[in-house]
Amino acid sequence: MRIAVIGTGYVGLVAGACLAENGNDVICVDKDAAKVRALQRGRIPIYEPGLEELVRRNRAEKRLTFTTDLPKGIKASQIVFIAVGTPTGEDGSADLRHVLEVARQIGKAMNGYKVIVDKSTVPVGTSEKVREVIKKETQHPFSVVSNPEFLKQGAAIEDFMKPDRVVIGAEDQRAEQIMKELYAPFTRTGAPIMMMDCASAELCKYAANAMLATRISFMNEVANVCEVVGADVDQVRRAVASDRRIGPAFLFPGVGYGGSCFPKDVKAMVRFASAKSYDFEILRAVENVNERQKVRLLSKMKQHFGSLRGRRIAVWGLAFKPKTDDMREAPAVPLITALLDAGAAVTAYDPEAMKVARTIFGTRVDFKDKSYDALSGADGLAIVTEWNEFREPDWTKIKKLLKTPVIFDGRNIYNSEQLRGLGFAYYAMGRR
Ligand SMILES: NC(=O)c1ccc[n+]([C@@H]2O[C@H](COP(=O)([O-])OP(=O)(O)OC[C@H]3O[C@@H](n4cnc5c(N)ncnc54)[C@H](O)[C@@H]3O)[C@@H](O)[C@H]2O)c1
Repeated sequence: MRIAVIGTGYVGLVAGACLAENGNDVICVDKDAAKVRALQRGRIPIYEPGLEELVRRNRAEKRLTFTTDLPKGIKASQIVFIAVGTPTGEDGSADLRHVLEVARQIGKAMNGYKVIVDKSTVPVGTSEKVREVIKKETQHPFSVVSNPEFLKQGAAIEDFMKPDRVVIGAEDQRAEQIMKELYAPFTRTGAPIMMMDCASAELCKYAANAMLATRISFMNEVANVCEVVGADVDQVRRAVASDRRIGPAFLFPGVGYGGSCFPKDVKAMVRFASAKSYDFEILRAVENVNERQKVRLLSKMKQHFGSLRGRRIAVWGLAFKPKTDDMREAPAVPLITALLDAGAAVTAYDPEAMKVARTIFGTRVDFKDKSYDALSGADGLAIVTEWNEFREPDWTKIKKLLKTPVIFDGRNIYNSEQLRGLGFAYYAMGRR
């Protein structure tokens, strides 16, 4: 099939590359000329495992091309994906500016029947708005479909190629049929294609992210309670997770959720519910708990050092989660900002996110190219992102490099008995 994907970010680029991998002809369009130029030269602007290879292969086969020329992309395609950002607007709602602008441009470039697929995460009613905007610009027939994306950064290709489910909100049979055909190769292993109305499809994505964010905030609160009552959250988590009604996923306490999706989608859901006079109380609490949790490691540092003025803290991990360079809403940002505000110096290391982190902190943070270099002369080490390479470090070396042997483990990846046995002061989340 001939496909255009508008917006070549984490979702658009992965979707475009995966659709090309299954034999479709895909034109990826972005308004960011520098990004498109880089992609045309085979350079991938983001870190996502496996993506570079996939893009290279499909570019070489000429199934995947990149352009800033949106009308060209539209005219050449029968299916057009909208995968632009829907950031948080001033009042907390999803900002639909980019989606509706793209819809307008699609309308202007129409040259025959097309299926317009909204893949961006958008509030209920957006497909209707997209339809209206396009209709104002063209006489050509078209269908608007809602197809929310559930991929996880860090495992995006696997998620797109082998989804748990594909959700499609469609209002007519022609579009339904085309979407079923398009996704058939991705669902051969038996994953369901769930057809529904557009409103339900739009809500699915928010409900899924809100549920996951709720589990995280819930478990962070359980961890905090563990600390005050003297229980160990690891033991509690394992017992709770073994209940088949609950399951083990998303029950790890930590420094709070971040990234480009959970924070903005939780906010947007609260907002669009309240616009219909519904107070989504649980989600408001989920958000408040998360804000508090992001700086909880700082309280532990204050508890240990008293004042942080003049201290140097080494931070391992900056991305909002491992296997990505994405620092949007990363808990490392408020934590490091609070450390700097408290008069501490920060040295930091992340395997992939330092380029992005430099654009946030500039020279206020001393970034090191090697993990152990960040420890030299530091008063303590904070683990903020649980990259695999931090899991089994050389403790003898760490003890030698740190001025005082203290670890603030924001991700509970170390064994407290082992560390205390080695002479470290060890602080974790909800553990003794
Ligand atoms: N990142 C994720 O893990 C994820 C997962 C599922 C769903 N989503 C949703 O998918 C959407 C995109 O997210 P993302 O993380 O890929 O965003 P992103 O910011 O990485 O990428 C968006 C891209 O759209 C481009 N763009 C914006 N306006 C444009 C226009 N008028 N014409 C052409 N290009 C334009 C931008 O230049 C940018 O490259 C959001 O709604 C998000 O909530 C994201």
